[in-house]
Amino acid sequence: MKLFLLAALVAIVSAGEHKLKCKTVSVRGKIHKKDVLASGINRPYQLSMYKHEHKIFFSYNVGKNEEDTFEIGYIQMGEKNVTAIKGVLNGFASTVDEENHHVYLGGSKGIYKYNLKNNSESLEHIVSGHNIWYMFFYKHLYFIDFPSQTLYVYKKNATDPGQVHRCDIKDKIYQYVIDNDGDQFITTDSGLYQIKKGSNERHLYSDIKLFRGAALDNTGHAHFCSNHTIYATNKKNYTLEEIAYVRNVFGITFDSQNNIVYSDPKNIVKLLPGNCD
Ligand SMILES: *[C@@H]1O[C@H](CO)[C@@H](O)[C@H](O)[C@H]1NC(C)=O
Ligand SMILES: *[C@@H]1O[C@H](CO)[C@@H](O)[C@H](O)[C@H]1NC(C)=O
Ligand SMILES: *[C@@H]1O[C@H](CO)[C@@H](O)[C@H](O)[C@H]1NC(C)=O
Ligand SMILES: *[C@@H]1O[C@H](CO)[C@@H](O)[C@H](O)[C@H]1NC(C)=O
Ligand SMILES: *[C@@H]1O[C@H](CO)[C@@H](O)[C@H](O)[C@H]1NC(C)=O
Repeated sequence: MKLFLLAALVAIVSAGEHKLKCKTVSVRGKIHKKDVLASGINRPYQLSMYKHEHKIFFSYNVGKNEEDTFEIGYIQMGEKNVTAIKGVLNGFASTVDEENHHVYLGGSKGIYKYNLKNNSESLEHIVSGHNIWYMFFYKHLYFIDFPSQTLYVYKKNATDPGQVHRCDIKDKIYQYVIDNDGDQFITTDSGLYQIKKGSNERHLYSDIKLFRGAALDNTGHAHFCSNHTIYATNKKNYTLEEIAYVRNVFGITFDSQNNIVYSDPKNIVKLLPGNCD
């Protein structure tokens, strides 16, 4: 189902087997070393991180040959192996509510809530009737439906067990974040836009048509990645700043120390300040 869009987003490149030799990359002009957290994963995509325990969630392909089937798993601090989360059919998206210790997992049958605090491994099915493309948590759970690429929000409170509402944004969108100023960023078929808090005022940041990932750093500053580049948003002049050049980046997130974590077609890598030993 998602194969067509994914194939467009993610052109597969046979990177060749590279040995785990220390490599460096420049981030904002400063040397960083690549710390490979896990390797041998089939196209890890849509990263999100539970910072309290350094657990990185992502989706990956478990399909045979041409058929794409997705699953969500995680890697935790000090372990290089992937722990699969069973029970989310075609798991494709995840997002973390750090404060309440929940991770939301989305797949073709909707959204499941996974409680990290009690480690019960119990999945609560909270949204059905949507095939989930992408999710983002900020006060509420935002998600993008596939294949409509429409933005919805799931809201609940003490008296309400939880309801899904369509958001005002009418565009077909691929990624969505809300930054620390409450401004929204959307990626569409015509580029990346900021929508100012409390208004419809839009600013075009980039006419790049295919972003693969979006994340906030620990100061709530929006970042994006496209095929070979990680970008930060510069809100002063509505531009994207290229902060790192990385071959074939699939997804990004940040750890509790604000280090960039990214994925490529096979690996999950953290960028740490400093040179190789
Ligand atoms: C991952 O590796 C650790 C040891 O490093 C082991 O204890 C754990 O059971 C492994 N998990 C999986 C899912 O294989
Ligand atoms: C863990 O939390 C979930 C969701 O809040 C709850 O359904 C489950 O009963 C809890 N498990 C334990 C062992 O407390
Ligand atoms: C709870 O949610 C319902 C439905 O969205 C809303 O009508 C109600 O005002 C909310 N209550 C509070 C206390 O926010
Ligand atoms: C990145 O992807 C876009 C769209 O697929 C393509 O037009 C562009 O040439 C790519 N850039 C590089 C440097 O490969
Ligand atoms: C935007 O501002 C940054 C500095 O904050 C500058 O480096 C960059 O060149 C500016 N871009 C444009 C298009 O003016």
